[in-house]
Amino acid sequence: MAKETKLRLIKGDITTLSVDAIVNAANSGLMGGGGVDGAIHRAAGPTLLEECRAIVQRDGPCPPGKAVITRAGRLPCRYVIHTVGPIWRGGNQEEDALLASCYRESLVLAERHGCRSVAFPNISTGVYGFPKERAAPIALKAVQEGLSLCPTVEEVFFVCFDEENYRIYQALMQ
Ligand code: APR
Repeated sequence: MAKETKLRLIKGDITTLSVDAIVNAANSGLMGGGGVDGAIHRAAGPTLLEECRAIVQRDGPCPPGKAVITRAGRLPCRYVIHTVGPIWRGGNQEEDALLASCYRESLVLAERHGCRSVAFPNISTGVYGFPKERAAPIALKAVQEGLSLCPTVEEVFFVCFDEENYRIYQALMQ
């Protein structure tokens, strides 16, 4: 029988979730930043940055649309998947495809590490300026499609921090 993955919507802070993996909206240098990236690094403690640094030293910067995985320091989750969303430049610079790729690549990493539950923030819709109304259906579709390659993943949480994203996802997921 085909497995049924549950898609769930949550409003709140992704750093509080006891899931197998949370996804971070990082930058290519993986050096931490503001927004959800800052919140995750603060809550995880310094080992997160050390692991990120080691990855960049070994493999170079993480390009937009790609993802890497680390352990989670003091966070209640097991892993942090760091993905680099596209910076919004008007919509003709592959932004949609790169955003979809972030969700897909993160799911593939979660699957490879045996994760059964994964939580995503609204990648690129903060500092990187991706329009929220446009990002949400891309995220949802990429996850729905990506899950066909991820038999281990049973539960995906879309975690909205701001009210606007929460309302958009609520309407989409009804
Ligand atoms: N939990 C969940 N979501 C959060 C949290 C949190 N604690 N804090 C912020 N957010 C939400 C914002 O509401 C926004 O919708 O995360 C979404 C993404 O916003 P940003 O964190 O600004 O990420 P992004 O737009 O992808 O920009 C990435 O910002 O902090 C830097 O290092 C990061 O340079 C990178 C850039």
